Amino acid sequence: MLQALHETVAYIKKKTSNFEPQVGIVLGTGLGALVTEIEVEYSLMYANIPNFPISTLEFHSGKLIFGTLRGKRVVAMQGRLHYYEGYSMQQITFPVRVMKALGVSHLFVSNAAGSLNPEFKKGDLMVITDHINLQPESPLRGRNDADMGPRFPDMSQPYNRGLIASALKIAGQHNIVCHSGVYIAVTGPNLETKAEYRYLRIIGGDAVGMSTVPEVIVANHMSLPVFAISVLTDEGFGEELMPVSLDEIIEAANQAEPKMTMILSELIFSL
Ligand code: HPA
Repeated sequence: MLQALHETVAYIKKKTSNFEPQVGIVLGTGLGALVTEIEVEYSLMYANIPNFPISTLEFHSGKLIFGTLRGKRVVAMQGRLHYYEGYSMQQITFPVRVMKALGVSHLFVSNAAGSLNPEFKKGDLMVITDHINLQPESPLRGRNDADMGPRFPDMSQPYNRGLIASALKIAGQHNIVCHSGVYIAVTGPNLETKAEYRYLRIIGGDAVGMSTVPEVIVANHMSLPVFAISVLTDEGFGEELMPVSLDEIIEAANQAEPKMTMILSELIFSL
């Protein structure tokens, strides 16, 4: 893994004239608008980057974007990897390792998620304060490279407290409804049954989605501070569970996106 990382980082440094990003960004389904605010300097196709996973069609159009956002040098993934697409946990999280090796000091992550908390409505935002991992494995399974991080990394505070407080303050200043809560990661790609939503609520979740936790675990492994935010695109509570389609999730994500983009952009500016 370390050797693959060196090879990938060497390629990227060569292609970007040693661009040194300060901030890494991974954006969720229907939430790519922040990338359009970046003054792009370099853009690399995933398919051309050594050791980046290639298999699904969607991934072939994925790009790693390097540029400036509100005065900060950033690297952003345009096109996220999900476990349900068939990648291994190590493949999904490899880009986060690359970002860290390129020098980022913070990681920002967004996702679309279903609400489990009756107080959190479709279209609201939720800052993630903690998570429950129900995906079948940890990205840290297998041999541990002590140069990257410890065998048994602490997870008592996986989401940076200062960034959570700043985000809630920014939301308040702009009159944006922004909750905070626990995100549960499931494998997907199927959505949940009524009984599963009920179960996820009972075990302590406020939102459920199919991403984010692998990246957050790996960032914590490398002591990289993380901020993560969910856009709640559907409601998994109540007597009557409404059918949800991907189109509706994307539409709800697109509608709430400007609020989320604003918070992320202000937060990155404030670093
Ligand atoms: N469940 C799982 N993943 C999701 C959901 C959901 O309800 N909404 C958006 N991503």
